[in-house]
Amino acid sequence: MSAVASKPSASPSAVTPSGSGRIFNFSAGPGCLPEEVLQQAQQDIWNIAGSGVGILEHSHRAKVYDKVLAEAEADCRKIANIPASYKVLFLTGGATTQNFMVPANLLAQDQTADYLTTGYWAEKSAEQAKLYGTVNEAWDGRPHKHAFIPSDDQIKYSTSGGAKPAYVHMCSNNTIYGTQWKRTPAVPAGVPIINDASSDIYSQPIDVTKFGLIYAGAQKNIGIAGTTLVIIREDLLQRNPRELPVMLQYRMHAADQSRHNTPPVFAIYMSGLVFKWILKQGGLEALAKRNQEKAKLIYDVLDGSKFYKGHARPDCRSLMNITFRVAPEVKNSEELDGKFLAEATKAGLDQLKGHRSTGGMRASTYNAMPLAGCKALADFMREFERKNG
Ligand SMILES: Cc1ncc(COP(=O)(O)O)c(C=O)c1O
Repeated sequence: MSAVASKPSASPSAVTPSGSGRIFNFSAGPGCLPEEVLQQAQQDIWNIAGSGVGILEHSHRAKVYDKVLAEAEADCRKIANIPASYKVLFLTGGATTQNFMVPANLLAQDQTADYLTTGYWAEKSAEQAKLYGTVNEAWDGRPHKHAFIPSDDQIKYSTSGGAKPAYVHMCSNNTIYGTQWKRTPAVPAGVPIINDASSDIYSQPIDVTKFGLIYAGAQKNIGIAGTTLVIIREDLLQRNPRELPVMLQYRMHAADQSRHNTPPVFAIYMSGLVFKWILKQGGLEALAKRNQEKAKLIYDVLDGSKFYKGHARPDCRSLMNITFRVAPEVKNSEELDGKFLAEATKAGLDQLKGHRSTGGMRASTYNAMPLAGCKALADFMREFERKNG
């Protein structure tokens, strides 16, 4: 069986450097994957590690999967230098499930958790926590259209009855609004920070020890939909503020090494391949450098133009999701947004439509997006402005 590279039906001008006929996919998630990862997966679906059986068909208790899981965890730890005092879990249910697993496991009914509401997904996280205890939105970015990240003195942590919050929840990269934390917030001493890092996990160096728990749906920077990476400090496994079904207990998933039931074998295998690819790229320092270069190509166009307008305040701009539109001051700007998207798709620059809450365009430039894709988009943006500005 050979790897089949089918061509897209249109004949776009922008195709990836491999010459495989694949176009540049700027989707916010599931996002693009490294081509060499896809090629390896094509082979392993047929027959992995000479076992005569494909990865999709192996038992989660088989030796082949033992190795896949062990290597995925070891590489995941190596990439971010995760200390032994943290457990690495591969769970299901997406980041959305973490929105309730976090408070279910870490917040007692009579406690308060502080939420830094910097975007749509952070709003969703705060809503779910209200089912389990009191939520203090220590920052609420809604009145500011989530266009920036608060400074430390704009954040109001809870102090009810002199008690510290059970934890502080943040979302390090706001996928929809295109903002990103450039620092870890200065939370009250000893309070664990819980970070939804779904859209910037492993896109730059991360100091895991600053967090109590990090979670990330894999489908943007570290794999495909189906598994969620959870990195949890061991002491937090002991909190247990209430009785929970086993599948909702972090401590059970930790004890059973992420296979209490049949895990999403293929999704975890894919994360394993992406981790190996990250290490091969030179790790997080190297990826961060490339991601900065990529984003700069596009932000430079925004900065040099009155035709486009970015959503995020420049000092809070995301390196992963670049949100912009044709400036409202330009005549027929909304129509031009539509024209931009249609022409970009034809040119092989796909899935650039912004989320309905921001409108306009969003270019997601996750780890696997090559520099050539960002360059092609920047060139397209300049040309579109020249023709329509
Ligand atoms: C920052 C962030 N958190 C949470 C989610 C929801 O993730 P999932 O679909 O894996 O539940 C997303 C999805 O785009 C996201 O970008």
